[in-house]
Amino acid sequence: MSETVFSPAASIAGAGLGLRSEHYQHIFDNKPDVPWFELLSENYMADGGLPLVRAEAIRASYPITLHGVGMSLGSVDPLNMSYLSRLKKLADRLEPTYISDHIAWVSVNNQYTHDLLPLPYIEEAQKIIAEKINQAQDFLGRTLLVENPSSYLTFIQSDMSEETFIGEVLKDTGCELLLDINNLYVSAINHGFSAEDYLAALPKDKVKEIHLAGYEDRNGYLFDTHGYPVHDPVWKLYRKAIAMFGSVPTLIEWDTDVPAFDVLLAESNKAQKILDGMTSP
Ligand SMILES: [Fe+2]
Repeated sequence: MSETVFSPAASIAGAGLGLRSEHYQHIFDNKPDVPWFELLSENYMADGGLPLVRAEAIRASYPITLHGVGMSLGSVDPLNMSYLSRLKKLADRLEPTYISDHIAWVSVNNQYTHDLLPLPYIEEAQKIIAEKINQAQDFLGRTLLVENPSSYLTFIQSDMSEETFIGEVLKDTGCELLLDINNLYVSAINHGFSAEDYLAALPKDKVKEIHLAGYEDRNGYLFDTHGYPVHDPVWKLYRKAIAMFGSVPTLIEWDTDVPAFDVLLAESNKAQKILDGMTSP
């Protein structure tokens, strides 16, 4: 495979899109006016092959970020160095603006689940995840972004709020926040806390990227499916977040029942108008 040289780690701004395989050809054929794309790291962590060729072709025309689910930062397992080595190789190749993962755990005793599982918000878990983030940042040689989870249960052992936990982890590690407004709304409704108070408690200078997505209302709780347009209450919360944090680069995530590219583009245009201050908070 050729060693393509990209402009190093271009900064991102505006409303980008999550890159999905259904849209490769449309993007190559039409070169749509999208400010940046987010690639799912695990889809491209190989030594070669068509997905990587496509990722390089996208990166040749657009800034990108790498977003993963496999670091298992909240697990008591040691970091998976094989995974991190492959991620580092991918990052060296694609020069992403950011690398992000989640405030969650996906493995225990080296058995991996397909779910991002929540942590108890206690000091012991704070120390565990902070140590992992520090190790990962040292290995990758860059600052990570970590994303707030959506969740369906809380632990009776938790003795601090999620926003306090996240604030402490950010302080312990110097990492930055990928604020998922849909996740926040889903968790706030499921657990009955104030999403506005949560936003107000976050360190403003640490919010570097925002995610928006669609949830499913399952009569009694909200489920984070990433299979719908962004719902009105999430847009409302997003406007409040932009009023508080400024014009933070924002991404539309759509992972199931992926629609035509133009549907995604219409969603990102809606976010762009809010970022541009064209709709009031
Ligand atoms: Fe997200």
